[in-house]
Amino acid sequence: MSFQERRALFPVSVEIVDRGNGPGLAIGGCELTALAAEYGTPLYLYDQATLAAAVDTYRHVLDAYPAGGEITYAGKAGLNLALAQWMDRQGVWLDCTGVGELHVAQVASVDRSRVLVHGVAKTDADLQAAVRQAGTIVVDNLDELRRLVDLAAAAPPGQPFPDLWLRVLPGLAVDTHAFRQTGQEDSKFGMDASTARQAVALCLRHGLSLTGLHFHQGSHFHDPTPIGPAVEMVLDLAASLRDEFGWTPAHLSPGGGWGVAYHEDDLPQPAVEEYVTFVAEALIAGCEKRGLPLPVLHVEPGRSLVARAGVALYRVRAAKRTLSRRWLLLDGGMADNIRPALYGTRYSASPVANPQRPDEGPAWLAGPYCESGDILVENLPMPAVETDELIAVPASGAYQIAMSSNYNGALKPAVLWLEAGREHVIQRRQTLADLIARDEVLPTE
Ligand SMILES: Cc1ncc(COP(=O)(O)O)c(C=O)c1O
Repeated sequence: MSFQERRALFPVSVEIVDRGNGPGLAIGGCELTALAAEYGTPLYLYDQATLAAAVDTYRHVLDAYPAGGEITYAGKAGLNLALAQWMDRQGVWLDCTGVGELHVAQVASVDRSRVLVHGVAKTDADLQAAVRQAGTIVVDNLDELRRLVDLAAAAPPGQPFPDLWLRVLPGLAVDTHAFRQTGQEDSKFGMDASTARQAVALCLRHGLSLTGLHFHQGSHFHDPTPIGPAVEMVLDLAASLRDEFGWTPAHLSPGGGWGVAYHEDDLPQPAVEEYVTFVAEALIAGCEKRGLPLPVLHVEPGRSLVARAGVALYRVRAAKRTLSRRWLLLDGGMADNIRPALYGTRYSASPVANPQRPDEGPAWLAGPYCESGDILVENLPMPAVETDELIAVPASGAYQIAMSSNYNGALKPAVLWLEAGREHVIQRRQTLADLIARDEVLPTE
């Protein structure tokens, strides 16, 4: 397996450079060997050029949609001050789940009009922060809506109150891992059509600004076909709401979830154009059929905006052979990337130095943690790799840092931003002091 066959999994700026110390991988003009020497491993890297290319691709397709479109970055895929700031500078909206992500948005000074709040079981603190800070709240259920009615009634006159959208449950999921399906009939997310009808009545009775409908069928899918019947269901609902209440949605969001390639077998990269065009065409045809005004189209990608921009860098701490396997034991694993253990996600990898070396055979890349499930990459053709070499795992920008833990006392890795040949630390590595920062000792006896 040559590096060229894996290249499209890596950030768009990846190159093999030789600055006098032999050929090695560079991203954003920065040599990975030098970054690892300076900042240690495990190390997460985000390539600005790849993020910009992903935003451009979404924007380009949305520009062709007649009623206009907006991109909302699903912050759950990974959020920090720099990413929030950068998305805001691009005019990308930010989907925040709960008071924690809202805090990041606030400190990053994200424009309120572009903050959208999700959550299936929002706490009072979540809702209060959302009312203070967000332009839009996506309402999951009637209990939440009743609390919003109370918050609106208690708000001082003249204080801006967010627009509300309803999260509709289409009763149909996309084809993906069961843990990532959300649109199926029995899902905990969203409301069915008859509940949505009650929610509209409640909003209108209390003068709340209800402006949109939302649905999300699941995450990391490659076939947009199930979105067609979901659009039909939601537009049937919209037509019946128009007939009953004279209300139509000015905004419609089919959520996010478009897949990415994690392994060379997933290539070519799923085309964002195919997905967004499919949704836009379904919406245009469905609105025309029902005589509905065309809503603004909002897409809510997480991983397809950030996964490819991210690379995780590890150092091989030991190599061993067992009965049938060649193990490369790395200094990171399930504490910074739980996804292979949680969803069985197949990742790829490449040595950083001289990545064009011929393969020696399959390797299992495992982490240092106390579980046999701590395997990052399984059965991957790899060259002969020595202890202390660096390994780069591509497609690491989504849901890795966001789902990372301190298992076995692991310190969460540093995160670097790579742009125009320079690196910036956007999240420092945790320290031992961070590990016990919340702990208190027992009282003396
Ligand atoms: C409501 C909602 N929107 C968007 C997303 C983003 O999904 P993805 O990162 O797969 O694009 C999710 C993921 O769970 C979600 O629940």
